[in-house]
Amino acid sequence: MAKATPLGSADAAGSSCATSGSINANPNMPQGGMQCYPQSQIPNMNITNLPLNKQNNGLGYYTSSSNQHRGWKGSLACVSFDPTDIRDKLQTLNKPCYIVKVEDQIGVTNDGYCPLDNGKKAQIEVLFDLPPLSIKQLGDPNFLSFHNVKYAYTTGAMAGGIASEEMIIALGKAKILGSFGAGGLTPERLEAAINRIQQALPNGPYAFNLIHSPNDLAIERKAVDLYLKHRVRTVEASAFLDLTPNIVYYRAAGLSVNSASEIEIKNKVIAKISRREVASKFMQPAPLKILKQLLEQGLITESQATLAAKVPIADDITAEADSGGHTDNRPLVCLLPSIIALRDEIQAKYNYKKPIRVGVAGGIATPQSALAAFMMGAAYVVTGSINQSCIEAGTSPHTKKLLAQAAMADVMMAPAADMFEMGVKLQVLKRGTMFPMRAQKLYEIYRNYNSIEDIPTVEREKLEKQVFRQTIDEAWKATVDYLSQKNPQKLQKANSNPKMKMALIFRRYLGLSSRWSNSGEKGREVDYQIWCGPAMGSFNDWVRNSYLAEPNNRRVVDVANHIMKGTAYLYRIQNLKIQGLQLSDYYTQYVPNFSTLELQH
Ligand SMILES: Cc1cc2nc3c(=O)[nH]c(=O)nc-3n(C[C@H](O)[C@H](O)[C@H](O)COP(=O)(O)O)c2cc1C
Repeated sequence: MAKATPLGSADAAGSSCATSGSINANPNMPQGGMQCYPQSQIPNMNITNLPLNKQNNGLGYYTSSSNQHRGWKGSLACVSFDPTDIRDKLQTLNKPCYIVKVEDQIGVTNDGYCPLDNGKKAQIEVLFDLPPLSIKQLGDPNFLSFHNVKYAYTTGAMAGGIASEEMIIALGKAKILGSFGAGGLTPERLEAAINRIQQALPNGPYAFNLIHSPNDLAIERKAVDLYLKHRVRTVEASAFLDLTPNIVYYRAAGLSVNSASEIEIKNKVIAKISRREVASKFMQPAPLKILKQLLEQGLITESQATLAAKVPIADDITAEADSGGHTDNRPLVCLLPSIIALRDEIQAKYNYKKPIRVGVAGGIATPQSALAAFMMGAAYVVTGSINQSCIEAGTSPHTKKLLAQAAMADVMMAPAADMFEMGVKLQVLKRGTMFPMRAQKLYEIYRNYNSIEDIPTVEREKLEKQVFRQTIDEAWKATVDYLSQKNPQKLQKANSNPKMKMALIFRRYLGLSSRWSNSGEKGREVDYQIWCGPAMGSFNDWVRNSYLAEPNNRRVVDVANHIMKGTAYLYRIQNLKIQGLQLSDYYTQYVPNFSTLELQH
């Protein structure tokens, strides 16, 4: 119960509340710390004008006609004036939030109510108020129901099983959608992952990556066959430059008409793109030419071909900005509005019953970045790099340690193994590994010489000693052993094409270096190829002084919960700021203090 207050009987509702905070009982009571300005004299608002100190709880406001003379009723014991209690109340998102003025002090409460205006001047004035806020309100609610998930946050695929079974299962059990990193795995390994994930998550949610394979469409087809065979209902399609029959086959083979005569889409597609022209293909119905071809091959029925001409290829488009791995390095703030505008144009043209949603990936690592994406209209957010540093990631402890130390600028573009000859690059970690410099050197040599024999002896010896740690002849022999099993035709071509032979030897190093990183190959740490974007450094900055600084404490679900909870908190803070509340920076940060997983158990 509140002690005697300057307002005595204003405590009309008389309710009790969990946190103390009566005015007299509070030792940190602000003494004239509030700043109140008449409307005609709105000051130059600058948060640094409100340092948090002993005389000030860090809250101020400027008046506006909309927030004057509204009353608040409730127990004063429920009003906090102390910064720690105020922050707790602001973070209590499932309750409303009232910023009240008690005499000349500003306090915060989650309790009480605002009575209807009866014309009398209120004893306790409410300056600003906000309704409760659920994390589910962030993004597009259709994304939640469509994918049966708890909030609009997903994790992107990470090749070679870095986005591992453990990761997808942990996320799925928490009703978060994660995409398994199928890229680069054998069909046998992929099938084992499907079995394990389906067993653990019979009702989902989970997704599998369908990564475009420009050099070998059969790889793509094998993945589609497995997804159809095992009824994998959601794929994250990525790296496509154009539609292939494989992705169209997956989509069309899941179409039917339900009892309500509506088109039922069983095979959901989330297409990750970074260019408008590719996005446009996924936003439109399948090309008739491909449908005809699939029909002729007996892969889809006539009815499915007809239905496929009425629905888009993808249900969701992830606009991928500057990210780890393959990236066009586009800034999120430029890419997202452009893709949303494209979606609107295409929706106006086709008038789909269920409009396509646009989400965002690339750089999402903190509550601030997720909030920015949601405020720009993203239907959902996708994280990548940050999850590789989590316990569940299928990579080595050494790699996770390097990732947890990375700063934002510790990344660079380096030649990609899969499209090495074309000069395609991907974004990797540069701190703690020599891989990017060595891969770049290999690419320069490839460009400058036509064969291994053309490379000057000094250069060759350097490569053998520092990079391959074996002679070029030994490296070629290992390449031959591998290709004679996997791709004898390619081997045959390379035998009569010295430049191709050189590329294959170099690509072998590039391929091994990411495997070394995942398996934790001892003695090869300086050659680890670690795909990573600037998001990693941004995340590390955010969690620096928290338990999440230590990679052994990073769990994908906990990280997701903190990002989403922090996003909702910052939304509330920004909302109050826009209304006219001034807050010191003590309140404008969301720092993860304890694991959200402990709370759930
Ligand atoms: C280690 C790593 C491997 C990745 N592998 C794939 C992949 O195989 N397929 C894919 O679609 N995206 C892949 N990505 C991209 C992620 O799915 C995600 O879209 C991206 O990381 C998001 O951007 P961010 O790194 O800034 O968070 C990879 C990213 C990383 C960091």
